[in-house]
Amino acid sequence: MKKTINIFFALSSITVLTLFIPSACSKAKAPPTQPEIVCTSTISFSQQIAPMIQENCAGCHGSGAGTSPVLSNYTEISENAHAMLNAMHGTPQLMPQGGPALADSLLQQFQCWMQQGKMNN
Ligand code: HEC
Repeated sequence: MKKTINIFFALSSITVLTLFIPSACSKAKAPPTQPEIVCTSTISFSQQIAPMIQENCAGCHGSGAGTSPVLSNYTEISENAHAMLNAMHGTPQLMPQGGPALADSLLQQFQCWMQQGKMNN
């Protein structure tokens, strides 16, 4: 009798594990986010973010340049900010395409702009 109960518990824990492991795996595939950083100054969209995108991304992602996502104004940049930040960190592929990666100070500026609520300032 005791053995039967043990087998029952063994089987049910295996069932529980097989039910939970796949959901843990699909969670791990969620798009990565960058860990929050400390920002000491307010970032300006018009003075810092727009010029940086213009200089480093617009050649391929400007309006009419033909590469999706189009990053030519505030709305397009703020809607794609998360994917842009990840791409600038090399995920799923490094942007600007072909490299080199942007300077850390620019990556931090962009991330601070996001953390500060993606202001149109
Ligand atoms: C030399 C051209 C070029 C430059 C410069 C460039 N990109 Fe791209 N980018 C591409 C191409 C081509 C793709 C599409 C790649 C694909 O679908 O395989 C792409 C894709 C992307 C994507 C979508 C990535 C994804 O798969 O989710 C993002 C976001 C992106 N670029 C952001 C940027 C940002 C931000 C910059 C500037 C820092 C930048 N790109 C500069 C060519 C460029």
